[in-house]
Amino acid sequence: MSFSASWLTLREPFDRRARNPAVLNAVADWAADRDSVAVVDLACGLGSTLRAVTGRLPPRQNWRLVDNDLSLLARAATLARPPELTVTATPVDLARDLEAALDGPVELVTTSALLDLVSPEWLERLATETAARRLPVYAALSYDGLATIEPADTLDGAIIESVNRHQRRDKGFGPALGPEAAATAPARFEAIGYQVTQGSSDWVFTPKDTEIQLEVLTGWAAATREVGDITIGDIIAWLGRRQDHLAAGRSAMRVGHVDFFARPIATR
Ligand SMILES: C[S@@+](CC[C@H](N)C(=O)[O-])C[C@H]1O[C@@H](n2cnc3c(N)ncnc32)[C@H](O)[C@@H]1O
Repeated sequence: MSFSASWLTLREPFDRRARNPAVLNAVADWAADRDSVAVVDLACGLGSTLRAVTGRLPPRQNWRLVDNDLSLLARAATLARPPELTVTATPVDLARDLEAALDGPVELVTTSALLDLVSPEWLERLATETAARRLPVYAALSYDGLATIEPADTLDGAIIESVNRHQRRDKGFGPALGPEAAATAPARFEAIGYQVTQGSSDWVFTPKDTEIQLEVLTGWAAATREVGDITIGDIIAWLGRRQDHLAAGRSAMRVGHVDFFARPIATR
């Protein structure tokens, strides 16, 4: 599955606004008594997490950006970075080589918009491998399956149900957790002895946010078509009605996400 640079660029400011402040504060508290920190960002895309988190960490930072998309990775490495940061871009297929990504001088693991793509087995691997290394984990923006659109349309519920079924399809890590990741992932870290701070990080799109709404709604229509529970005619008619609401400046959306920071108990 590939993610376009234009989509990641479009969503970054909404992700930034959505990131849960209490969870970011927990990351900052963990980092507060450090002079430097070595971070690995799993599935970095264009490096949105680096930009969101860097201000909450000590000035001396070493970031290892990891992704399997070479073009995103190359762009992530060259995007704005304060001079104190050392940034390396490492191509890794995380489905296969998660352990290699975590090896070496790493003190903090970050990721965003990844855990809903992975399988329960891969999540288990992440939890086991990070726990074995006593690494804290900041995982942001896992979709939780709860979405609302205004004004309501009779087909919205069925479309969102299809989208949620599509989310559970294999995204390269085996059948995906999809919306289950939001609850399962923090619970799994808690169960293996982490102290977890979690909170919601919903996207909130106002009637002015037409470009991202159109992108999300079009993506939902395509996912619904692939699932095949709703006729193409009904999907097209639904998208047309939603586009009319957008054009009339009366469409608003909330798309549920969850962030968490898992800190090994009794380490600094
Ligand atoms: C939804 S994007 C999130 C990107 C970034 N973390 C952000 O929040 O903007 C998912 C990312 O996972 C990466 N990805 C998907 N499968 C992967 C794999 N098997 N190994 C490494 N990265 C992968 C994609 O290339 C993409 O950059």
